[in-house]
Amino acid sequence: MAINNQEMQSKILEAFNFRHATKVFDPAKKIADDEFNTILEAARLSPSSFGFEPWQILVVQTPEKRELFRDFAWGANGAFNGTAGQLGTASHFLIFLAHTDVNQTHNSEYQQKFMKEVKQLPDDVIGFINQAFQKFQEHDFKIEGQRQITDWAGKQAYIAAGNVMSVAALMGIDSCPIEGFEMDKTSAVLEQHFGIDPKVYQPAVMVALGYRADEPPFEKTRRTMDQVVSWF
Ligand SMILES: Cc1cc2nc3c(=O)[nH]c(=O)nc-3n(C[C@H](O)[C@H](O)[C@H](O)COP(=O)(O)O)c2cc1C
Repeated sequence: MAINNQEMQSKILEAFNFRHATKVFDPAKKIADDEFNTILEAARLSPSSFGFEPWQILVVQTPEKRELFRDFAWGANGAFNGTAGQLGTASHFLIFLAHTDVNQTHNSEYQQKFMKEVKQLPDDVIGFINQAFQKFQEHDFKIEGQRQITDWAGKQAYIAAGNVMSVAALMGIDSCPIEGFEMDKTSAVLEQHFGIDPKVYQPAVMVALGYRADEPPFEKTRRTMDQVVSWF
């Protein structure tokens, strides 16, 4: 169905106003498979610096697996409102992992394989990108070592997470981004129960998805456009 630009704009703004950080979902309402696939496609097709896709996405659907995070995922366990929280009520629960320096240091094995097999680039182009990325890491942005490279990868993962939430909202699906968890304990659970090597992948952000149990308790507040944007 053709949709004109004005209709499109109003639908986009409607979706962005509809989206709020949902604290409790209706546990009886599940996201349909095709809609959830669209949400995952939005993540998969997201942009990333140099196109290296330095993220992995875990879809945690088994209740027992979600419960493993409850004690220390204070932003998702309902501790603030006496509910089962996003962990206990979301239709779908995502954990975005950031690649560490093991995968994302210039000239890494991951990047060589990625450029060859995913990007299907010829060797000379791969050589050029290796050099450019090394300069970017060492000189331009000065991103060095495990923490900084993982944080850089995490920034890319947040773009994918943002797209997930926006696309969900466009389909009338609620979401909540979650940074309220203890990093070390999350990493340990991921290693022990999900087989995730913490040297290679670190948790970046979680996103719960589903349908709100209640309307948001507050009006959305934001700074004005003038306070946020400067034109030159
Ligand atoms: C990276 C990130 C982490 C967040 N972590 C949590 C969280 O752990 N738990 C939670 O309930 N909300 C969390 N939020 C939601 C924010 O508090 C919320 O987006 C903000 O207050 C604005 O409200 P709105 O999203 O409803 O418009 C997080 C938001 C972002 C972007």
